[in-house]
Amino acid sequence: MRVSNLRAAVILAAGQGTRMRSPTPKVLHRVGGRPMLDRAIDAAEAAGCDRIVIVAGAHSPAVAAHARARLGEGCVVIQDPPLGTGHAVLAAREALADFDGDVLVSYADTPLLDADALAPLFAVRDAGADLAVLGFEAADPGPYGRLLIGEDGLLERIVEAKDATPDERAVRLCNSGVLAAPRALLFSLLARVGNANAKQEYYLTDVVGLARGQGLSVRAALVEEASVMGVNSQSELADAEAVFQRRVRRRMLDQGVSMPAPDTVMFSHDTEIAPGAVVEPNVVFGAGVRIGRATIRAFSHLEGARVADDAVIGPYARLRPGAEIGPCAHIGNFVEVKAVVVGAGAKANHLSYLGDGTVGAGANIGAGTIFCNYDGFDKHRTEVGAGAFIGSNSALVAPVAIGAGAYVGSGSVITRSVAADALAVTRAEQVEKPEWAAKFRRLKGERKTR
Ligand code: UD1
Ligand code: CA
Repeated sequence: MRVSNLRAAVILAAGQGTRMRSPTPKVLHRVGGRPMLDRAIDAAEAAGCDRIVIVAGAHSPAVAAHARARLGEGCVVIQDPPLGTGHAVLAAREALADFDGDVLVSYADTPLLDADALAPLFAVRDAGADLAVLGFEAADPGPYGRLLIGEDGLLERIVEAKDATPDERAVRLCNSGVLAAPRALLFSLLARVGNANAKQEYYLTDVVGLARGQGLSVRAALVEEASVMGVNSQSELADAEAVFQRRVRRRMLDQGVSMPAPDTVMFSHDTEIAPGAVVEPNVVFGAGVRIGRATIRAFSHLEGARVADDAVIGPYARLRPGAEIGPCAHIGNFVEVKAVVVGAGAKANHLSYLGDGTVGAGANIGAGTIFCNYDGFDKHRTEVGAGAFIGSNSALVAPVAIGAGAYVGSGSVITRSVAADALAVTRAEQVEKPEWAAKFRRLKGERKTR
């Protein structure tokens, strides 16, 4: 074993992606809420690649723009027209001309590839192979390139399915498309790749045969098929999502999150949940959620929210970005919370909208309370003090503050701030007319018999 080389990555993203049948470029479709292109970049970064070049096509400027926004101007090259995977890697030659180390080639449409799956590839390089290729045993090899391994265990060559003989097509060991080689070697081999094949494309895979032809060693590293599955259609995208969700569910369970029906819970790539939390069936986690040792009850939808220990959310609650639910707080059914900090032990148990503000510790928000935060132009804040009690069916018209310990009578529309420990009621006083109902019924009854 020798010390690992410096690493750079070339990520191919110039394919058309027409089989997605979507106006969104293929590699900007999401798995676990994260664009596939970002996932490919994440994997390369996690594998220690400190220079990354994205090869984008002229046909989808959104891909280049997305990559530039994350990596900077010099990290994107355009392959125009796309003439094959080998041609695509060559487009990155200038961008890496001054780099001295290993180049990882991967695809932006392989969303489940991560640093763990790349580890065996680099291990093969570090063990002395000149060129390392990531392969897998395919359940159904179909259109994949086949890895042809010699008696000596070295990889002889890769043959594309379309160019393969029936015997070669029977091989189940397939090419993931991912490989690693020293920069100078990779580009010198690519310069010799031709396009005399079924698709008349410059195949990256041809570098293997060329390397062997000049006496170099090439070895395959194997990973499970799921880690290198490529996405070409919406249904393959859904398959990749399913694998992603299964992996996250398994990790959450292993970390001590209780989930009686894990298959019904959807996670985002960045969901964080503390051990001891309970997640009931049919909960959806959007981006940016962090949960302490809390209970998330069935059918709740959370996004950009924080939930502290011992809080109870749902069933049927919606937490939107900026919802910060304190310890022991309760957010119940059909309550929506957006950009509100809810203090320890506060409760909003039924049918409310809390948007833009604060709810102090121990406050009680009655059923049907609405924070009227929007006047058609601007958003305003509602501050509810600690221990305040908001009677049911109240509208708090922001900007407004309810002092600590104050009461708001049920059915009030509060437009001015309320002092601490005061009672504010804005509904009309109750009038009572003795015997009115009995008289009314008599009157109606007489008319019916007439
Ligand atoms: C490729 C491999 C095949 C492997 C399979 C794994 C070659 C010749 N074949 O086949 O051995 O089993 O991937 O999924 O390499 N791209 C460009 N520019 C191009 C062509 C492609 O950037 O000119 C990009 C695509 O956007 C995609 C990747 O390269 O991200 C793979 O291209 P694709 O056409 O899907 O290759 P396959 O035919 O699947
Ligand atoms: Ca493909």
